[in-house]
Formats: sequence, structure tokens, C-alpha cells
Amino acid sequence: MYKIAVIPGDGTGPEVVREGLKVLEAVSGMKGFKYELVNYDFGGERYKKTGEVLPESAIDELRKVDTIFLGAVGHPDVKPGILEKGLLLKLRFSLDQYINLRPVKLYPGVLTPLKDKGPEDIDFVVVRENTEGLYVGEGEFTDKDTDKEVAIQISRNSYKGVERCLKYAYEYTLKRNKEKKLTLCGKTNVLTYAWDLWERTFNKLSANYPDVKTDYAHVDATCMWMVKNPEWFDVIVTDNMFGDIITDLGAMIQGGMGIAAGGNINPEGVSMFEPIGGSAPKYTGKDVINPLAAICACGMMLENLGETEAAAMIEKSVMKATTMMDSMSAGRMGYSTQEVGDLVVKHLDKSKILNNIKCQKHKTQKYTI
Ligand code: IPM
Ligand code: MN
Repeated sequence: MYKIAVIPGDGTGPEVVREGLKVLEAVSGMKGFKYELVNYDFGGERYKKTGEVLPESAIDELRKVDTIFLGAVGHPDVKPGILEKGLLLKLRFSLDQYINLRPVKLYPGVLTPLKDKGPEDIDFVVVRENTEGLYVGEGEFTDKDTDKEVAIQISRNSYKGVERCLKYAYEYTLKRNKEKKLTLCGKTNVLTYAWDLWERTFNKLSANYPDVKTDYAHVDATCMWMVKNPEWFDVIVTDNMFGDIITDLGAMIQGGMGIAAGGNINPEGVSMFEPIGGSAPKYTGKDVINPLAAICACGMMLENLGETEAAAMIEKSVMKATTMMDSMSAGRMGYSTQEVGDLVVKHLDKSKILNNIKCQKHKTQKYTI
């Protein structure tokens, strides 16, 4: 019995999460695993009402669940930064989810803006460090509000933080078993402290992984190759800030934010899965947002829980769905949010239905202080 915390969040988060849960329910009925959902109403609305973003007591509760499914954070009436830092980054840091795993995969039928590139060319994974770098929030202003003002923003890269991320990336490259090629994406020519440490550690670890081919690309060149020759990549490992930027580019070449999913992973603890796009406030409640990113995030969550067959079933079904939704990336799916969820459920492999297993009832709790 898995205990799954659900944080639907803001804007269109709840509607895409609903479709993810619809697929989860269907697949669990087929594969016979059981789960309990615990709902948390964190996000902009709650913050506006109570002034509270994420209480410590909730973090302690979340430490005890098996996994977390997150919708989106960001509210038009809440100053940028409050929810992003107070909720999303707070969870990533507190739960030590030191890997942000972001597959960039073009599914059949999905339009990519890259000319002459298809699903066989766009299929790689970005391993983004998720708890350090520029995201640590260290820095200062000197002479604030004067013409002598200097703003300093520190990128912190600890050996331990870098090493555990690189180790994960090497192991992941082996497990993925595609080209077995790991590219370090950095900026050794300018950021000579941070990337010196990253490069030294990358090279040192490579001795333990003789089967993994290694490569290095500066972040600016990485952006260029992602557009020009995305087929060169298998697994890319990079720091928090560069990972943030290149995965938005990655989302675009795989068909848009509506399809891009990611996992915030603590291999030894509680992980959290999310569609990587934002809360799209102006589309809230309109039933037009593509829920495939949330559905794919749900698939990644099951993979992480060890339900690999269920995860594979979801991915196959998503691929059948995208084949039918060929106008998807033009911003017009041709289907409503709910219809896309239904389409994925419909194409789950019915041969996998187990006898005598019914979908269990969800016990949903509202979180109150
Ligand atoms: C992401 C987002 C976040 C990040 C923001 C919302 C803090 O852009 O998940 O990529 O920068 O990591
Ligand atoms: Mn981002």
C-alpha cells in the first residue's frame, strides 16, 4: 500500500493532477497495487487566506509518505518568489531531493519546432543537480539603492553535492542502456571554480564506469546542439541553474510544456514528481491544458516506486494518445484536458487486467493545522 501525497497547487495544477490520478487509478486496478492518497491544499489560495506557505509540520508529514505528486505552483496575486521558494524549492531542499530528472523525449505524432528531426532524434535525459548551485539563495547587496550598489549571488557547489549527483548520472546512464554516453554540461572556460570541481569529479568518477562514454559541452554549446543535433545526447548532467534553463529548451523541442515531466528525486528518501510547466493561471478551469505532462510525471512516480510495468503501460498508452493528437503542439490539442486523460486510460493495455482486483477507494484527507 503506497501512501501518495498529492499537492495539486495553483492554476491549472488541480485539473492536470486529476487526469494523472485518473490514469493512476486505472493502472493500479490493472496491475493490482494499492495506494492511499493524502491531499494537501498548499499553494496561492491557501497562502492568501492564511499567510502560510508550507508549515514545518507538513514537511514532517511528507517525510513519511512514499512519494509526492505535485501539480503546479505560482499564483497571479502572489508576489513571484514566495510560492516558488517557499513551497517548491523548500520541498526540494528539505526532502534533499538532490536530483531533478527530466527526460526530453519526442513522442510519435507530437510536433517539434526542429526541422527534419523526429522521435528517433530527440530522446535524451537531463540529470539536473537540485539542491545547490545558484539556488541556495546565498548572497548580499552592498550599498543598496545607491549608484555603488553591488548584488552578489553565490553558486555553492560542495564536493559531496557534486559527487552524489554525478554518481547518480553515471548509474542512470548505465541503467538507461542506450548509447551509454554521459555529457557534462558546464562552463569551464569562465566559471573556473565551480566547473573545475565538477569536471575534476566527473573525470575521477569515470574510472569507476569504464562502460560509460564521457563527453563535455559548455552550456551555450549544449543549447546549440540541442537544436542542431539533439541525437548526439543520451544523458546530460549539469548544475541547478543550467539544468533549469536547458530543460525549458528541452521541453520545447519535445513538443512543449504540456508534455514535459520531471522527478525531484532523493534516491534514499521521498521523491516528488511534477509536470515541469507552470500554473498557467489564465487557462484555469477551461479544460484546455494538456495533462500529458502530469500523466507522464505519474508514470515516472510509479517507475520510482518500483512499479516498472505500470510505468511502461502508461508511457505506451501516452504514445498511442499522442499519435492521435497530431495538432497537439500547435496549442490546440483537439481534445479537452479530461478527454486526453480518458484517451490514455482507454489505451492502457487491457490484457494486463488482473482478475478479481477492483480499484480501491481513495481515502483523501484535507490537511489542516
Ligand atoms: C522548474 C521551475 C522552478 C525552478 C521555479 C518555479 C522555482 O522553473 O522547476 O524548473 O527554477 O527550478
Ligand atoms: Mn524551470
